[in-house]
Amino acid sequence: MAAHVFGGPETAKKLRCLQSYLRAFSIALSKKDFSCVYIDAFAGSGTRTEVRPGLPLLGPEYAEPEEVTTPGSARLAIEVEPPIQKIVLIEQDQARYAELEALRAEFPNRQIVLRHGDANAHVQRLCAETNWRGPQAERRGVRGVIFLDPYGMEVSWQTVTAIAKTKALDCWYFFPLSGLYRNAPHNPAKLDAGKEASLDRVLGATDWRERWYNHDMQPVDIFETHAQAVRRADIDAIESYVKERLQSVFEGAVLDPIRLHHRNGPPLASLFFAISNPSRDAVKLASNIASHILNEGRSSHRRPR
Ligand SMILES: C[S@@+](CC[C@H](N)C(=O)[O-])C[C@H]1O[C@@H](n2cnc3c(N)ncnc32)[C@H](O)[C@@H]1O
Repeated sequence: MAAHVFGGPETAKKLRCLQSYLRAFSIALSKKDFSCVYIDAFAGSGTRTEVRPGLPLLGPEYAEPEEVTTPGSARLAIEVEPPIQKIVLIEQDQARYAELEALRAEFPNRQIVLRHGDANAHVQRLCAETNWRGPQAERRGVRGVIFLDPYGMEVSWQTVTAIAKTKALDCWYFFPLSGLYRNAPHNPAKLDAGKEASLDRVLGATDWRERWYNHDMQPVDIFETHAQAVRRADIDAIESYVKERLQSVFEGAVLDPIRLHHRNGPPLASLFFAISNPSRDAVKLASNIASHILNEGRSSHRRPR
């Protein structure tokens, strides 16, 4: 079994937010007449291995890096109490998928559905084909939580809109800020068609070009001017733009995210929480729980490096 090494010093915070939400969600929904589902669209292997810099107790040459393995999102979700009725795990990588099969085998009495392949295709199909409202006679609908935890720019906007249209799923989206600013460099000479297409696909819009870049008219000589695009939008402006995009499709609410960082400091991603269900009760319940969790995440100190 190959270790699934990913994330940085703040990954635990992200997983704590998800776990706390799932616990509270599962308790709240156990008192209501709904079926409950958790969808882990980028499920990984069920475990997470972090390589931490060793402590130089005996001098720097003895500071061996240390591997620490802890549960990943899929296992955390399966182990939530009271148990979530149905768990859907999607993973593209063959080896990690095989580990999810082994994880499922540990819980033979649970409803754990595995899907191998591209999360975008599977999530869009699942969202479109599920009867979220439930059969009329029984009036027992489905409510759920979906976690989008890609490495980078893998989630297409079509997937986001498919989730929003369910009006039944709460969505935790680990949005790849670093992917955005890598693909939208300050220097316009580095902006190419591939990067632009990738941004269009993740954001589901093209107006970021005007919103993020200033087209200053700069004199070339006394007769000519030329337009040179320079990215003016900083990371706060880019994050606000993403929130606006999410608000354009999630009818319930989109909360202010928490921002997580790379080990060496720059922003990595923003953890957004979005509610697709527009009903007042659903928005109140979900946003009360999630805002408390996000506030705790904001105030918790970053672990010393
Ligand atoms: C950051 S990891 C997820 C970690 C996981 N949430 C956890 O806590 O253990 C991203 C995962 O997405 C998978 N992945 C990447 N692109 C994918 C795609 N298009 N569809 C499904 N899975 C994908 C990768 O193989 C990887 O396991």
